[in-house]
Amino acid sequence: MAFKILASLLAVYATLQATNAALTRRVACPDGCCPLFDIVDTLQSEFFDGGECGEETHESLRQFGGGGADGSIMAFADIETAFHANGGIDDIVDAQKSFIAAHNITLTPGDFIQLAGAVGFSNCAGAPRLQFLLGRPAPTQASPDLLVPEPFDTVDSILARFGDAGFSSDEVVALLASHSVAAADHVDPSIPGSPFDSTPSSFDSQVFIEVQLRGTAFPGTGGNQGEVESPLAGEIRLQSDSELARDSRTACEWQSFANDHAKLQSAFASAMAKLAVVGQDTSNMVDCSEVLPIPPAANTVPHIPAGLSNGDIEQACATAAFPTLAVDPGSITSVAPV
Ligand code: HEM
Repeated sequence: MAFKILASLLAVYATLQATNAALTRRVACPDGCCPLFDIVDTLQSEFFDGGECGEETHESLRQFGGGGADGSIMAFADIETAFHANGGIDDIVDAQKSFIAAHNITLTPGDFIQLAGAVGFSNCAGAPRLQFLLGRPAPTQASPDLLVPEPFDTVDSILARFGDAGFSSDEVVALLASHSVAAADHVDPSIPGSPFDSTPSSFDSQVFIEVQLRGTAFPGTGGNQGEVESPLAGEIRLQSDSELARDSRTACEWQSFANDHAKLQSAFASAMAKLAVVGQDTSNMVDCSEVLPIPPAANTVPHIPAGLSNGDIEQACATAAFPTLAVDPGSITSVAPV
């Protein structure tokens, strides 16, 4: 008898749990965020290969950096994907357009691009959960050319460009944490998928460490515009990242991320929240951040890659020494394309 009561209590408990889960979903989105849960699930299963921090994630996230806040890159794709700085972005724009059509998604292009970028990013181990605000109107015109920075631009011009949009030099450095989960297809077209650090599926400090190491060779053909030598076979280094790591205005902030994951997460999340609403009136937007998945915990420890040492760091910050880091005891001295 006691067993029967216990069994039925457990059954009631299980039913309540299930109902609660359903209710939490509904109650947690009183402002029109509910339909996004299904879109997020479909994005994860069909677009991000079951929730990977892979190529689609990297490309979707890049659209943030590519001036994607209003979605004009999707609405005026013919014009904007032809801009030099948007090289290679047409693939992800086309893939997202097909996804929207196939699933009858009614979000505006700006909302969809931001949602997809934030969902994809949530698949990267160590990522912070980003903010997602819903309510960007449909774009009415294409963005002008030459707004998106190029890897061969000077630090002066990069800081000025971001400054015009309201970003400080510290925020520019924080945004470049995105290059922790990134690769280049077009900087050296002979080696597509070359990552910027040795851990392109983890949101971590490795890009801030590895860009500060002395560059010794080109991973591919060399002599490409916007590329400088990197420290690891298979790893590509942007000239802009290299210069920002060594400029007196940005070097100390760059270095500060080398072994401070908590700061990396919070500074990146704040700067991304700002980037995601550039040009938008946030008083007309609804906070639907709760629809974003919770990212997996960090799975790397800041380190110097095997075969190199702390002595290979090119000290650039004048007021503090680069932190001493553990050297990877392994034997992996090259990076595979992603
Ligand atoms: C100084 C400013 C920046 C410059 C010069 C720059 C430049 C570049 C370049 C040249 C590539 C390689 C594209 C290719 O060859 O396929 C790239 C990739 C990428 N960038 Fe940036 N970027 C900047 C800022 C940003 C920002 C602010 C974000 C995001 C918030 C971002 C996210 C990414 C991502 C995720 C990729 C990888 C794309 C992929 O793997 O397909 N970048 N960036």
